[in-house]
Amino acid sequence: MEYTTLGRTGLRVSVAGLGCGGFSRLGLNTGGTEASAIAIIHAALDLGVNLLDTAAPYATEGVVGKALKGVPRDRVVIATKSSVLRGGERYTPERVVASLDNSLRELGVDCIDVFQLHAVPPSGYDYVRETIAPALQREKERGKFRFLGITETSPNDLEHEMLQRAVADGVWDVVMVAFHLMSQNTREKVFPATLKHRVGTLLMFAVRSIFASTERVAAAMKELAAAGQVPQWLADTPDPLGFLIHPGGASSLTDAAYRYVRHEPGVDVVLFGTGDQAHLRSNIASILKPPLPEADRSRLKELFSHLRGVGLVLPPRARAAAAN
Ligand SMILES: NC(=O)c1ccc[n+]([C@@H]2O[C@H](COP(=O)([O-])OP(=O)(O)OC[C@H]3O[C@@H](n4cnc5c(N)ncnc54)[C@H](OP(=O)(O)O)[C@@H]3O)[C@@H](O)[C@H]2O)c1
Repeated sequence: MEYTTLGRTGLRVSVAGLGCGGFSRLGLNTGGTEASAIAIIHAALDLGVNLLDTAAPYATEGVVGKALKGVPRDRVVIATKSSVLRGGERYTPERVVASLDNSLRELGVDCIDVFQLHAVPPSGYDYVRETIAPALQREKERGKFRFLGITETSPNDLEHEMLQRAVADGVWDVVMVAFHLMSQNTREKVFPATLKHRVGTLLMFAVRSIFASTERVAAAMKELAAAGQVPQWLADTPDPLGFLIHPGGASSLTDAAYRYVRHEPGVDVVLFGTGDQAHLRSNIASILKPPLPEADRSRLKELFSHLRGVGLVLPPRARAAAAN
């Protein structure tokens, strides 16, 4: 494993972080059991992963807590989250503090390393900064968490408007942001500011559902070509990103997707979500490999840097929560 410093927090974190939400939820969404989810966490720790990202809305804090029983507390950096908005309803500060207290109980720890506000849209940012953050500052002084973070709601914030404000505010030590090989505007809109302000970054959506399947990429290319957004040849082939796979290049679609994000200046931790032991090992291996060849990265920029919103899909659980 390789380690880096998570911005101004000074925390030493593995460059690959285990995401405990997303479409997989440690495999709990795909037929796995609590025991197999715990085995995924243990396998990740054995391979040197020391950052785990969970959240109250993922309902995986309990299983993370069970997996971490007996693991020395300083061996792992725990990041979790509270919702702040559900449908049109804003959480009160008391409700967010109650969520924090519940996270501490579920995780079985006295202190969380990074406590984040989950999926904050641009329209909710003033409220969380003015009303929720001050209440959390008091809880931080009580020792319940070490660093405050905020995550964007990628499908609803294609220009990263919320983070463009948050990064410069000095309130958030860590941000979670989307970036992938067909969603590239983070490079201009977010990373220069996080680097300038030394805000730590957790990268989400590297693979998600789109780059887990050649068929999904092919279906997306057909829609994009029909809308005139990508050249027709990308719609006419069953494996549109196959040009990335060659000797000296990527070994698979997911290998390309994780390696693409890992080496971008400004990316501290690449989160990956899985319930599959083989995927876990190959994803970590990909994240530790060298960058994709320069010619392939240039081609991806030329073909896709103008696109917005491709592959930024919410899992059913998150869609339901947003609608409630
Ligand atoms: N706003 C937010 O706060 C927010 C939003 C999104 C994500 N996140 C965080 O970011 C983490 C990562 O996001 P993500 O879940 O979208 O992760 P991801 O790593 O981009 O994608 C994971 C998906 O790809 C599949 N997959 C993983 N490795 C694979 C491989 N080698 N081959 C084929 N399929 C593979 C997984 O299924 P298998 O189980 O089959 O491997 C899973 O469905 C989440 O767990 C969460 O912690 C936060």
